[in-house]
Parts: sequence; structure tokens; C-alpha cells
Amino acid sequence: MGAHTLGSAKAENSGYKGAWSTSEGVFDNDYYKQMLTRGWGPDLAVNGVKDRNQWKTIDNGPEDGLMLNSDLALAYDNNSVHQKCMAENNNNNRKCKKLQNKGEPINALTS
Ligand code: HEM
Repeated sequence: MGAHTLGSAKAENSGYKGAWSTSEGVFDNDYYKQMLTRGWGPDLAVNGVKDRNQWKTIDNGPEDGLMLNSDLALAYDNNSVHQKCMAENNNNNRKCKKLQNKGEPINALTS
């Protein structure tokens, strides 16, 4: 998946749109840097196609960032039970560790 740092998605090919890294064409770790340092929000029905749901950058950095569910799943999941436990325990993961693998895969459509 790190190879996504090289390229982009085009509506006319896959229906998804945007670039995973800001250094397209260069084989580096920018895909992971973007994933972990940017703010991501759902980008639903890309170009009006209802089953093309992806993630876009929603911070104040460069626009047009892209992640798919399968990209963000490398770093994040949907785990409200774990989040709640962490909030209640001052972010002490020792108390919440058993809940860590109880989440759902991240999904732009339901997040
Ligand atoms: C669950 C796994 C994966 C999914 C869902 C996925 C999905 C996609 C999609 C939708 C595109 C955009 C195609 C387009 O619109 O032209 C793409 C592009 C690309 N993928 Fe993946 N991919 C996956 C895994 C991988 C892996 C394992 C590699 C390499 C080891 C890879 C390398 C690339 C590259 C280099 C591009 C850019 C192509 C271009 O710019 O023309 N992908 N991928």
C-alpha cells in the first residue's frame, strides 16, 4: 500500500479522485506522513457516484489529499468503546488494552 505514494486516482479510471502524497512520482514515505499528520474526513459520492466514497483532507494543508478505507485502516479503526475507556482513564491504555481490537474497520460511509 505504501506504493500509493507514487500515484493518484482518477475519476475516469476508478471513480476515486486525488493523490495520496504531495510528492507524486517519488518513492518516499510521504503516503504514511500524510496519513498520520493530516486531518481526514469523509468525501461521499465522489463526482456524484454513490458507491464511490473516500476520504479527503479537511485540515488547512494542501487540498486534494486522498485516502481509501483500506488505506486508513492501516492506522485507524472505529472503536468508540476504546475511545470512551481512554477518555475515562486519562488516556492510560493499560486499562483499555483489552478493548483495542474490538473496533470496526474504518468506513467513510458510516464515520
Ligand atoms: C486493498 C488494497 C488496494 C486498494 C483498494 C487499491 C486501490 C487503488 C485505486 C482505487 C487506485 C486508483 C486507480 C486510478 O484511479 O487510476 C490505485 C492506484 C495505485 N495503486 Fe493501489 N490499491 C491497493 C493496493 C495497492 C498495492 C499493494 C500497491 C503496490 C504494491 C498499489 C499500487 C498502486 C499505485 C502505484 C497506484 C497509482 C497508479 C497511477 O497513478 O496510475 N496499490 N490503487
